[in-house]
Amino acid sequence: MAKRDSRFVCQSCGAIHSKWMGRCEACGAWNSVIEEAVEASHPGGLSGKGGRTLQFESLDGASQTPPRALTGVAEFDRVLGGGLVAGSAVLVGGDPGIGKSTLLLQAAAALGRTRRIAYVSGEEAMDQVRLRAARLGLAKANVALAATTSVREVLSSLDARDAPDVIVIDSIQTMFVDTLESAPGTVAQVRASASELIRLGKKRGIAILLVGHVTKEGVLAGPRVLEHMVDTVLYFEGERGHQFRILRAVKNRFGPTDEIGVFEMTDRGLVEVPNPSQLFLADRRDDVSGAAVFAGMEGTRPVLVEIQALVGPPVQGTPRRAVIGWDTGRLAMVLAVLETRCGLVFANHDVYLNVAGGLRIAEPAADLAVAAALVSALGGKPVPPDAVVFGEIGLAGEVRAVSQSDARLKEAAKLGFARAFVPARRRQARGSGEAAIRIDGIEDLGTLVARLSGPRRPQSLDKAEAAS
Ligand code: TYD
Ligand code: MG
Repeated sequence: MAKRDSRFVCQSCGAIHSKWMGRCEACGAWNSVIEEAVEASHPGGLSGKGGRTLQFESLDGASQTPPRALTGVAEFDRVLGGGLVAGSAVLVGGDPGIGKSTLLLQAAAALGRTRRIAYVSGEEAMDQVRLRAARLGLAKANVALAATTSVREVLSSLDARDAPDVIVIDSIQTMFVDTLESAPGTVAQVRASASELIRLGKKRGIAILLVGHVTKEGVLAGPRVLEHMVDTVLYFEGERGHQFRILRAVKNRFGPTDEIGVFEMTDRGLVEVPNPSQLFLADRRDDVSGAAVFAGMEGTRPVLVEIQALVGPPVQGTPRRAVIGWDTGRLAMVLAVLETRCGLVFANHDVYLNVAGGLRIAEPAADLAVAAALVSALGGKPVPPDAVVFGEIGLAGEVRAVSQSDARLKEAAKLGFARAFVPARRRQARGSGEAAIRIDGIEDLGTLVARLSGPRRPQSLDKAEAAS
């Protein structure tokens, strides 16, 4: 009998250790290392014998574009890169309760009009899923529903000539393969279950949609390995208290990864939001200081959001910095540049930064809008309400050009904005977006501070303004 070795796998990061340890050396998680059995590897390796000889071909050979099925949920299709690819595996990750089951049930119901769908619920009983479907007005939808956690049952029912076109597995953490001893949800089980299901998908041309829960730290529970196994990884995110939900592609073998889909969670399920800017700006008040409208890009789509800053004396002893929706390190940098290059003092203030509506921004182009919100908050004077702001800030205080400025300006003009604080140098030729809006080219942060007439404003400017 082959000797059974064991190895020790961290359930948090997937790192493999040769011995058990209380704390994973790779990621630092406590009590995450679990023993797994491995079959002893083949002695002598694979060198040189057997196996098919590969036929190498040139890159410009004939190829097929993969067939796609539109799910009928337009925002979902956009993030997938134009619909669901047959035989592909898609992982939809997100916090518990964020709306993954709702999204997939709605997509399954919409797909059910043209394709055959199987929805396998490992988390909820049939009645619960039916109840949700009824609440969503989808009770009549053409979706085949089953409740099980056994991958063997799924395979023996669906590995057939008349297999469905799409299988939804909700969730992969509840599934188990009975040849493994470890409990459902462990790295070994999740990996084995996913690989069996993906193999089924590839063999029969079935698109597999896997739901995956995310831990508090924001990684897909346990297995980063899962991300490598699937073709597409989508994250469904949003603040629980907000009604907005954002579907974001972080990996996509069949499309772009920077597209987002925007949804609103209502009492009748998820409603698509075709024009997110309008939604994100809906509750804006234009007479308060500390707010600036950032003209951002999410994939190919411009999205306008309000960036809010609050600056004040420390509530407790040491000044706090708190950020929601943006990068803490990036805020520290913008604050440092404002202090060093413009002489503004934030060191003895609490600073709070918030991206309104629950959106998370990753673009450096938001730097200038953040700076505008901070300067306005510190000086107590509102940023002109009809202005949008974008631009990247360098450590010398210079404002750097960003991509797609024309698309940003066009969206701003469409929503009624009349002026824009943008980098003085533009990366692309001036397009029609610039004709529609008054451009205020900003060379460096000092210029921005002067425009927003924050504190330490040169007196000459005040006089000039008073005279005009
Ligand atoms: P769910 O899809 O079960 O989340 P997940 O599968 O990601 O765990 O959604 C759970 C939340 O969504 C729940 O708190 C209630 C809310 N919800 C609505 O607000 N409206 C609805 O129509 C539905 C079905 C759910
Ligand atoms: Mg669920």
